[in-house]
Amino acid sequence: MNHALTRTAFAAALMLAAGGAQAADKLKVGFMLPYSGTYAALGNAIENGFKLYVAEQGGKLGGRDIEYFKVDDESNPAKAAENANRLIKRDQVDVLIGTVHSGVAMALAKAAKDADTTLIVTNAGANAITGPLCSPGIFRTSFTNWQPAYAMGPVAYGKGHKTAVTITWKYAAGDEAIGGFKEGFEKAGGKVVKELSLPFPNVEFQPLLTEIAALKPDMVFTFFAGGGAVKFVQDYHAAGLDKTIPLYGSGFLTDGTLQAQGESAQGLLTTLHYADGLNTPRDNAFRADYAKAYKAQPDVYAVQGYDAAQLMQSGLAAVKGDFGKKDDFRKAMRGATVDSPRGPFTLSAAGNPVQDIYLRRVDGLENKVVDIAVKKLADPARGCKL
Ligand code: BEZ
Repeated sequence: MNHALTRTAFAAALMLAAGGAQAADKLKVGFMLPYSGTYAALGNAIENGFKLYVAEQGGKLGGRDIEYFKVDDESNPAKAAENANRLIKRDQVDVLIGTVHSGVAMALAKAAKDADTTLIVTNAGANAITGPLCSPGIFRTSFTNWQPAYAMGPVAYGKGHKTAVTITWKYAAGDEAIGGFKEGFEKAGGKVVKELSLPFPNVEFQPLLTEIAALKPDMVFTFFAGGGAVKFVQDYHAAGLDKTIPLYGSGFLTDGTLQAQGESAQGLLTTLHYADGLNTPRDNAFRADYAKAYKAQPDVYAVQGYDAAQLMQSGLAAVKGDFGKKDDFRKAMRGATVDSPRGPFTLSAAGNPVQDIYLRRVDGLENKVVDIAVKKLADPARGCKL
């Protein structure tokens, strides 16, 4: 027998086993986010925020090292189920983090629910995720599409606007944001006279801007985000419409976009669960750390990613890092108060943040806080049965 060879093989097997055990000890976190297309910047900011919190905890969550897996979902609903199953079945992640686009997120939530894999939604506002699709393993650290848009209804009516035209992309996020605004605005006494839309992610706004000019409403309310929001605000300004018909939106219209929008965005009023100039010790520390780590200012997407890691930390602390105790981990997350840079928030029974919605005004490169439009706004979670 060749003893030298046997000893080498034995040593190699030992190393493999040790490596395997170490890998098994790691918490597997799967990012399903857009890293290309109109929402690419949003996906990157979410990942940056998540990793910043982990770095602040010494690179671990609940005392466990983390192994990351990544899929670029391209904001493409047609590939969503397949992409989700890469992380769930192939990589066997413990927790899914994602995504941005509501249509993609609905397929992700269905796949997570079927496989009983814990999911933390870090942006997509699809009402259904914490509505009919709600489940003990599904959490959100962002918002429902209804929340920020609903809050703008009474604010806009209070400014004397009686009629509104809405314009958005024709998919769940746009439809639901418009639905939320309409509910708040009409409850306050206003009337939405026309709902305009174009397919996602088209940016050929000109014919619709011509229609708005002809309709002459008191105001326009919109949902656009990412690259599409940049182009819409620039086109609205270039058409001169902002001089006669004030533009309002869910805050995604001007978050993470101001550098590119420049002059065209100045003075715009939006509603969102985060704002610049909150000037709290928590937010100031977060912003300083983020700027140091990434040489960029954080936006709402970075906050949502950061808070997903914080939420996981609360769950893992409760089970002392033992991820096998899935039910206890989830119960602790559902009952957590997240010390967010946006201000502390709790989760509703359906797993969605109950949070303040800020009114913000664009000033230079900031969405400066003006007021709290609605305090502790909870999504109605229509259709959620737990
Ligand atoms: C959504 O699809 O839910 C969404 C995308 C970008 C910003 C906000 C919401």
